[in-house]
Amino acid sequence: NGHVEEESFIGAVDQGTTSSRFIIFNRFADPIASHQIEFQNYYPHSGPLELLESVEQCIERAVEQFITKGYRKEQIKAIGLTTQRETTVCWDKYTGEPLCEAVVWPDTRTKDLVRELKGHLGADRLLQLCGLPLSTYPSSVKLLWLVRYHDQVKKAYEEGRLAFGTVDSWLIYKLNGGKEKNVHVTDTSNASRTMFMNLHTCQYDDELINFFGIDRSKVDFPKIVPSSDAEAFGTLARGILAGTKIAGCLGDQSSALVGHCGFSPGHAKNTYGTGCFLLYNVGTEPVISQYGLLATVAYDFGKGQKPVYALEGSIAVAGSGVKFLMNNLGFLRDSTKVGELARTVEDNGGVVFVTAFSGLFAPYWIDDAKGTLFGITQHTQRGHIARATLEATCFQTRAILEAMEKDSKHKLGGVAVDGGMSNSDLTMQTQANIIGIRVERPSMRETTALGAAIAAGMAVGGFWRDLEEVSEITHKKPGRKNFEPDMDRRQGQKMYENWEKAVEMSRGWVRD
Ligand code: G3P
Repeated sequence: NGHVEEESFIGAVDQGTTSSRFIIFNRFADPIASHQIEFQNYYPHSGPLELLESVEQCIERAVEQFITKGYRKEQIKAIGLTTQRETTVCWDKYTGEPLCEAVVWPDTRTKDLVRELKGHLGADRLLQLCGLPLSTYPSSVKLLWLVRYHDQVKKAYEEGRLAFGTVDSWLIYKLNGGKEKNVHVTDTSNASRTMFMNLHTCQYDDELINFFGIDRSKVDFPKIVPSSDAEAFGTLARGILAGTKIAGCLGDQSSALVGHCGFSPGHAKNTYGTGCFLLYNVGTEPVISQYGLLATVAYDFGKGQKPVYALEGSIAVAGSGVKFLMNNLGFLRDSTKVGELARTVEDNGGVVFVTAFSGLFAPYWIDDAKGTLFGITQHTQRGHIARATLEATCFQTRAILEAMEKDSKHKLGGVAVDGGMSNSDLTMQTQANIIGIRVERPSMRETTALGAAIAAGMAVGGFWRDLEEVSEITHKKPGRKNFEPDMDRRQGQKMYENWEKAVEMSRGWVRD
């Protein structure tokens, strides 16, 4: 009858540690319009209202761009949301106003608190219950620190006015209009990073909450819901997309696994963002690590299906190491040029840089390690230090992969990559050489945002038949590049042994 069905689109908010963005995808997973805002001084300063504002601005600008391209905003059927994880936000449940700055995930102010908690009865059971080792990283210790030491949070807690959430909960609450609607939710993947959720039941666990000495009757916790849901996350209350549903929500690393279509056990992805996070799909039963990895919810698409779990190796410093070379040492004007600087030398010239700015995360978990440079001589150039900075992430990736192989008893054949540093061919070739397996890089590297779009698209329907169809679409895209190891194995081994030695020597440096 001549009627042509109008094309539909899905939007995705990606709120990360150093930037916010909004990307509009078509059903072929192509980004059609986008806007990004970078934060300069993100850490330790991170205002919850600034995060919200940046997200709202990205939505406005990207949708304007979309309209300029000839589309109508009504063609955007829903949005998904993916966020940095663990970062802790506290607000007043009656006014909806934040009570403090967000405590960002790599913040180590909780170091002494963690040491204290390690001596408490029940500390040895935590890992079995929630899959996470006790460290400065999860939200629980951040919340406890605020309740103890931040006057406003402490007062609100005592008066029963305290609402707690990770960045996803905070944004969803505010995007829905705040206290009037009072949509206070989180998805299973984000909740699995708080250390308050039991990994087996995917519900809050009193044993965990009590361990941290938090009185549950004095804090509003977000309700845990599946990552893909057409009702639970509400609708945007204002702005250009007012009335549009939020239909998907995922922690950013989970989202990247979904964006890579890592839907089967054995799939692994590594995202080089501010930090670097390797997730390995283990299927519908959690695997508690014996070798220093985290057990986490990969995604939970609801509708009666079991959540899918992952083993995760988290590296605190990756892109932030490059930013350090740029902002603190003045080596670069533009972080994307780090590969060029590294190419000015043939190899690392014997320099090893343990970039332990927030201690060392997986699989080492050394809270008191400090950033340490080894092997400096009179011949050391900036290029050597740049190379050593990139290699630090590659070595930690190898340590994580070795732990994963031991935990899963399965040898990986390849790992899919995305994120800023994955744009550097030199870094990806180095990565392949150091781990001795293939590194696979897709052409469309906004994988994190795509994951949230997939979660939302699956919830509202009409986009993709099933996850298999999404996989087919993304894998058919041209421009994928594989990096095969091309270095002598013994040389890679020697470099890695040097790194391990350097890690040991970076422990326990105390500033007096
Ligand atoms: O666990 C922290 C992680 O979610 C942050 O990701 O991309 O901001 O480095 P990113």
